[in-house]
Amino acid sequence: MDITQNLLLSAQRARKLAYAPYSEFQVGAAIYADNSQIYTGCNVENISFPCGTCAEAGAISAMIAGGGKKILQILIVADSQKLITPCGACLQRIAEFSTPETIVHLADLHTIRKSLPITELLPYGFVAEELKK
Ligand code: THU
Repeated sequence: MDITQNLLLSAQRARKLAYAPYSEFQVGAAIYADNSQIYTGCNVENISFPCGTCAEAGAISAMIAGGGKKILQILIVADSQKLITPCGACLQRIAEFSTPETIVHLADLHTIRKSLPITELLPYGFVAEELKK
C-alpha cells in the first residue's frame, strides 16, 4: 500500500474514535513523519468548549512523543461536502514541524480531494527567527 493510501486509512480509523459530542463533527488526522512512521489524532472536545483540541494537534503530539521530528505529509479527513482545511491555529502548528516540501492532503470519507504544500496554505505564518537571540 502506498503512503497516501495508508495515511487515508489511518486518518479514517482515528476519525471514527473522535470525541465530538458537541459539534458532532468528527475529524481524523494522520502524519507521515521523517522517521517513516505514521501518527494519528482525532478531535477531542470538552464541555468547556475552548478546551477542545483539533485532530491535527493530537497527531502532532503523538508524532513528537513517538520520536518524529518533521511532518513529511499530513492528511486530514472529515465528512464534509465542502473541502475541510485546517484552522488557523493548526496551520501554525503544522508549520512548526514542516519543511518547505511538507504536503497537506485534504480528504473526505472516500478520497483525497486536494493536496497542497503547507507553504500555500500558510504563506505568511509567524516565524520565530526574531525570537532567537
Ligand atoms: N476540527 C478539527 O479537529 N480539525 C480541523 O481542521 C477543523 C476543526 C474540529 C474542532 C471541533 O472539535 C470540530 O472539528 C468542529 O469545529
